[in-house]
Amino acid sequence: MKIKSASGKGSPTEGSPLILPAFSEEDIGVALEEAVRLLQKGELIALPTETVYGLAADARNSQAVMKIYLAKGRPSFNPIIVHVASLEMARECVTSWPAEAEKLARAFWPGPLSMILKRSSLIPDVVTAGGDTVAIRWPAHPVFQKVIQKCGFPLAAPSANRSNSISPTTAEHVRSSLGTRIPLILDGGPCVVGIESTVLDLSTPDSPRILRPGMISREMIDEVLGSTLTTTTALVSSPGQVGQKAPLKSPGQLSRHYSPEAPLFLIPCESEEEILRFAEQHGLKTSEVALILNRLEVQEQYKLTFHLAKEPRAYARELYSILYQCDERGCKAIIAQAPPRTSQWEGVWDRLKRASGRDIPKPLG
Ligand code: TXA
Ligand code: MG
Repeated sequence: MKIKSASGKGSPTEGSPLILPAFSEEDIGVALEEAVRLLQKGELIALPTETVYGLAADARNSQAVMKIYLAKGRPSFNPIIVHVASLEMARECVTSWPAEAEKLARAFWPGPLSMILKRSSLIPDVVTAGGDTVAIRWPAHPVFQKVIQKCGFPLAAPSANRSNSISPTTAEHVRSSLGTRIPLILDGGPCVVGIESTVLDLSTPDSPRILRPGMISREMIDEVLGSTLTTTTALVSSPGQVGQKAPLKSPGQLSRHYSPEAPLFLIPCESEEEILRFAEQHGLKTSEVALILNRLEVQEQYKLTFHLAKEPRAYARELYSILYQCDERGCKAIIAQAPPRTSQWEGVWDRLKRASGRDIPKPLG
């Protein structure tokens, strides 16, 4: 078994995280041991889920969870999702378990759905940002599940990136974003879903609402619940703009979130001429621009050109990795061709809009 530090020297140098591979059974055994030892001591670790990498702490331990906010630079008003590895553990985190939660858990767990319910006394204030609800999710990644099972307690875990930047879908993304701030990263390879879980508010079970779309689509949830859901994802630019004293219902709704460094323009276009016109109008040189396409072929030379899948699941899997590359390569701007507007694309649309932090330039037909 090789233990690899971020400096590549076999043991962690001061300030760089230990990166442990978690692929083979033998790797996972060693990785688990170290992960559980740190979590039990109230330390943080980063590890893969099927959606994005998470930054985990013992959800019952306020001081440990506080370290998550510090490492991420996360505002204290933004609550954290609690990860479990059984229905029984999920029920221990909440005061009531409505029939809707049972149906959805049976349909989609383990998987990329977080359900907001009334929290129990097991979950401290720091996890919920003082609110009376908690978001719960049973992730599908086997490494994450094994860590929870071995710990025997739930793990609070947001995405393992500095606040407001792009969520990591590889161990290397985590290292580049949080590097010296955390002691251990478990490397389980690239995440297969690629964007964060769907967040569904079930705290008033009569009127469930999607607060953050994801790859479990509104249609899929409607089908299980036999009802029609609303989505509450209006973009707001700061908590103050919500116009009320109550905390934001889902602070991840802040308009500029999940953003690359380069400005991203999401434009509905079906031809390269439209892209070139847009670039000219905005004073962008094509040699400095990255293009993210999903239907178009282009002739002009751009700094980077990505042809993403025509199908939302494969598109989502690649998206954040591509945004990381755009930043690494120093692109001055990113132009993304707006994908289709069907329910299955809602999660991707939401992340592209938030990455842009802008309204799209013209209404879609
Ligand atoms: O796929 C995911 O959900 C990943 C992996 C690591 O599980 N986690 C993730 O966590 O994306 P985070 O913290 O980056 O995003 C959690 C979202 C935020 O928008 C937060 O505001 C919302 O869930 N949230 C968490 N608890 C909430 C609560 N009690 N009420 C309303 N919104 C909540
Ligand atoms: Mg996040």
